[in-house]
Amino acid sequence: MLIQNSRYLMQYSDCIVSFHSIIVILEFYQNDFILTDLKHYYLQQMGIDIWVERDKPRRSNTDALAELSRKVAGCTRCNLHCGRTQTVFARGNSLARLMVIGEAPGFHEDKQGLPFVGKAGGLLNNMLQSIGLTESDVYIANVIKCRPPENRDPTEEEVALCSEYLGQQIQLIQPSLILALGRFAGQFLLKSNLAMNQMRSKDHAYESTPCIVTYHPAYLLRKPSDKKKAFDDLLRVQKALCLSS
Ligand code: URA
Repeated sequence: MLIQNSRYLMQYSDCIVSFHSIIVILEFYQNDFILTDLKHYYLQQMGIDIWVERDKPRRSNTDALAELSRKVAGCTRCNLHCGRTQTVFARGNSLARLMVIGEAPGFHEDKQGLPFVGKAGGLLNNMLQSIGLTESDVYIANVIKCRPPENRDPTEEEVALCSEYLGQQIQLIQPSLILALGRFAGQFLLKSNLAMNQMRSKDHAYESTPCIVTYHPAYLLRKPSDKKKAFDDLLRVQKALCLSS
């Protein structure tokens, strides 16, 4: 935000000088929220124009994603379509800078048609919240769009037939950073056979998009003692997105 000529505020009465002191204190404590509102209020009262930086224009991807989602909903490329209630495309904000990628829908996801809505999804929401992110800051999808029976690992053939959809989603979202959840998503995105311990805590890229790999929340529910390591990975996500801690 640019505030026109904020220096000449000092030429006003004592009241303005004390206003300036409040601003300095708020700036010191970096309370941007109150600061911005307060500055806007006083400048408005004084008839001073406020200049606000526009949001960066970004090409809307809504129509293309809706079309891709319809295509996925009708997909019969592999046998997983026989057992599904519905396909699971994505949830979150399609303009988000962070894209989170899991493996495949489970029972609850298949029923609701949304990724990460079961217990693992609850933990994922908490993990994101621990670095100040909510659903509106992320776009969440899976490598596989239909639930494998009994939540078994997807086969190579299923991955080969389905993963093109994820590739198209990534192209449309154009995230600044990808967070891969679990060994399966990590290995798929990095085209590698590395173990989780070798993938996490290193910087990777999917095509040219930076990618961080961490534990899958379903794994963390089984092994909570690894949550500390997952939090370290999330702090790297926070740093990569230049979010304040
Ligand atoms: N596990 C995943 O990998 N994805 C989901 O959507 C739910 C559980």
